[in-house]
Amino acid sequence: MRRKLAAGNWKMNGTSESLAEIDTLIKEHAEAGCDMLICPPATLIHRMADAAKDTNLAVGGQDCHAETSGAHTGDISAVMLRDAGASHVITGHSERRVDHGERDETVRAKTLAAIEAGLTAIVCVGESLKEREASNTLDIIAGQLSGSIPDTVTGQNLVVAYEPIWAIGTGKVPTLDQIGEVHDYMRSRLERRFGAGVARSVRLLYGGSVKAGNAAEIFGVSNVDGALVGGASLKAADFGPIVAALSASS
Ligand code: PGA
Repeated sequence: MRRKLAAGNWKMNGTSESLAEIDTLIKEHAEAGCDMLICPPATLIHRMADAAKDTNLAVGGQDCHAETSGAHTGDISAVMLRDAGASHVITGHSERRVDHGERDETVRAKTLAAIEAGLTAIVCVGESLKEREASNTLDIIAGQLSGSIPDTVTGQNLVVAYEPIWAIGTGKVPTLDQIGEVHDYMRSRLERRFGAGVARSVRLLYGGSVKAGNAAEIFGVSNVDGALVGGASLKAADFGPIVAALSASS
């Protein structure tokens, strides 16, 4: 069966002193019944990966370039993330799609590069509030899944995160029925494209204002295999209870 995944996305937050949070997390959740992942800013990946060596905490990047190396000032390749100690990378987060104009083709190329570098890609999809209100959610999700995921994925190197844009950092969360509808739909789309074997091993995360107070009920929804957590992943005191809730649901 799929092992649940509690993933934290620190976004543009964290300096050296934040590494203490990781030490606490590792100490308090060494026996967690789920996988744990933190995606810190690139500046901390190497040190965090060293601190998490031989523990149950994995470390990931928040974005990568589609090419392996070259004249791309400020960018980081998937190979470099791997070299720094990352095992995962987020691709197509809505903040990349919106702030940096990333389209599905770009996300697909980055995801392919991640897989070729030996990383697990966490591909993010999600509708805007306008799209939800126009009842276009499932069409948007279908388009992003087919456009952003390359053909070569396996159940092991792909994770998909459903993150409604209007729920990110807002405190607003879809109803459990809305989350379940999208997650069931994503599973069926993946099955149709990749076959049941691959589709049933891909972990589907929910993301958007997940916190200790709502985690348990979200983890009870069908086809939710964990969470991608932003704000509530920055402190071990906030992320720990989410890890515990996921472990309890496993
Ligand atoms: P949030 O962010 O938990 O702060 O809403 C989630 C995300 O963007 O991954």
